Amino acid sequence: MSDARDRPRGAWTRRHLLGLRELSAEEILAVLDTARGFSEISGRSIRKVPTLRGRVVVNAFYEPSTRTRLSFSLAAQRLSADVLEFSKSGSSTAKGETLIDTARNIEAMGVDAFVLRHSAPGAAAVLARHVDAAVVNAGDGAHEHPTQALLDLYTIREHKQRFEGLEVAIVGDISHSRVARSNIWALQKLGARVTLVGPPTLVPSRFAELGCEVSHDLDAVIPRVDVLNMLRIQRERQGRLNFPSTKEYSRLFALTERRLERAKSDVLVMHPGPINRGVEISPEVADGKHSVVLEQVSAGVAVRMAVLFLVVQAKESAQRSGERPALASPVTSETNRRPS
Ligand code: NCD
Repeated sequence: MSDARDRPRGAWTRRHLLGLRELSAEEILAVLDTARGFSEISGRSIRKVPTLRGRVVVNAFYEPSTRTRLSFSLAAQRLSADVLEFSKSGSSTAKGETLIDTARNIEAMGVDAFVLRHSAPGAAAVLARHVDAAVVNAGDGAHEHPTQALLDLYTIREHKQRFEGLEVAIVGDISHSRVARSNIWALQKLGARVTLVGPPTLVPSRFAELGCEVSHDLDAVIPRVDVLNMLRIQRERQGRLNFPSTKEYSRLFALTERRLERAKSDVLVMHPGPINRGVEISPEVADGKHSVVLEQVSAGVAVRMAVLFLVVQAKESAQRSGERPALASPVTSETNRRPS
């Protein structure tokens, strides 16, 4: 096997990861290759390397999160970074402090990277203009969720070994989904064909302008696709329900065993979580033989290690202050000594 760890990562020079729309196919593949190298660390008895020792990563979450937050924390810790956890609740946000003021105060403590989740589209881009630290978007409103799409791509590549010509259906609340948007940008850049499926209120025909096919008929799409990525209804981003009832939605768009009978024998069933069992996917399918949902979660740690490594490395090489040691090779288990 050619070792992804040894491949040059010259394709990556960005200090921030704000979205996948602006990335090239080469940059996306550079993250996936780097993540592949890091994935081996999770299988070691001591799951830690010194790559980001002495660096500080801040997890700033202004919206709820389980997987994304924990896997960013774990990723930073596996790279030996110090991790600060910031949540909107219990913070001075309740006293009126703005995101930028909060971030600049945290940065004054000495911070190398911010991981930001926020309900406002563009929040990570705004933050990136105000801090010297690297910024990673962990979901900004319905705009983008780049690391989720990267871990989705990583999982697809592990199973299908290619993107070119792959047929991917993204099913559900496309309108309000940052996961869908990031997946659309990345999959198309890598040569996959994307079909968006859901009721017209959640998948308006204007999405065809992005180069995707739009369908309101899941049963018609199932037999021809290689990947079914099922999404949750984003109730928190909808003023009112955009369809008659949850029961009606499930009747037409839930992925059930019966529907899956007509799929290709090697179809992959994906879901970013959190799953609403019985709404967009039946429990049997969520836990069934086609499901790679938990593999996605595992991939998330390696992908976030790769992203944190790449952006901090880019930030440090841009600064070139010479005060800090160069980053150790991503998977070395040796100590990262300061050059004497
Ligand atoms: C997604 C999110 O927060 O955008 N979840 C995640 O990060 N794994 C999807 C969702 O909330 O439905």
